[in-house]
Amino acid sequence: MTQLTALVTGSSRGIGAAIRTALAARGIKVIGHATKAIDAETIGADLTDPTAAARIWETALDRGNGRIDLLINNAGQFQANPIGLSDIEWLDNWEDALRINLTAAAELSRFAVRHWLEGERTGRIVHVASRAAYRGDSPDHWHYAAAKAGMIGLHKTIARQYAAKGIMSYAICPGFTDTAMAGDYLASRGGPGLLADIPLGRVATPAEIATMAVFCALDAPESMTGAVLDANGASYVR
Ligand SMILES: NC(=O)c1ccc[n+]([C@@H]2O[C@H](COP(=O)([O-])OP(=O)(O)OC[C@H]3O[C@@H](n4cnc5c(N)ncnc54)[C@H](OP(=O)(O)O)[C@@H]3O)[C@@H](O)[C@H]2O)c1
Repeated sequence: MTQLTALVTGSSRGIGAAIRTALAARGIKVIGHATKAIDAETIGADLTDPTAAARIWETALDRGNGRIDLLINNAGQFQANPIGLSDIEWLDNWEDALRINLTAAAELSRFAVRHWLEGERTGRIVHVASRAAYRGDSPDHWHYAAAKAGMIGLHKTIARQYAAKGIMSYAICPGFTDTAMAGDYLASRGGPGLLADIPLGRVATPAEIATMAVFCALDAPESMTGAVLDANGASYVR
């Protein structure tokens, strides 16, 4: 059987690193990505650069010998953007957040869908969105919630429009997960109070989110395409 190739964005640490390890353990050839090329298997490209997504895709295709089967849109950034900043600072932060968390994922999804349609191949996309897509976020994170909600709209559209062509799309909405991203937030907004809001009594682990991502990428039934899976310790039950 042909070995499947996956492109995983934001694979240098946190959830992306766990997904990379878990996919490799299932025999998948994984092409990673981060802001910098930290090793030979990681493509370095800062997603605030509008040329980044195309460069990542072309490099990944090269490394995958012209073939990518799975795209995991995981890279993300969660930086405070208080409304009291100057107009231009606030707008700059908004645009960076939208580009990293939404536009780059949309561009890579477009390249992937075209690749599969043109090659008459099947493929799967897994989007790592956020609980914030449905619940909203803090006063400093309008941009993050808006980007993740946009990602869910993107995901549902791809699922509905390309299922008949064998292209499946799945989305995961983690709540707080034990990575640097959540650590900064919990520290800045009072960890114990926020934890009290999670019936499970703890944040998710990157390995738990990776288990879900691998399931979506390799095992989930095709009929599940378009689904959004929550992982938030019942802190937001829809
Ligand atoms: N942790 C949570 O509580 C939580 C909750 C809900 C959703 N999520 C989502 O889960 C995904 C992974 O989050 P995480 O917690 O694992 O985050 P993390 O530990 O902060 O890692 C973020 C990853 O994204 C990459 N990245 C960030 N900014 C980038 C940029 N401008 N250009 C290219 N790459 C960039 C980082 O690369 P470098 O190492 O090079 O910086 C890193 O690989 C994100 O989409 C996040 O929104 C996380």
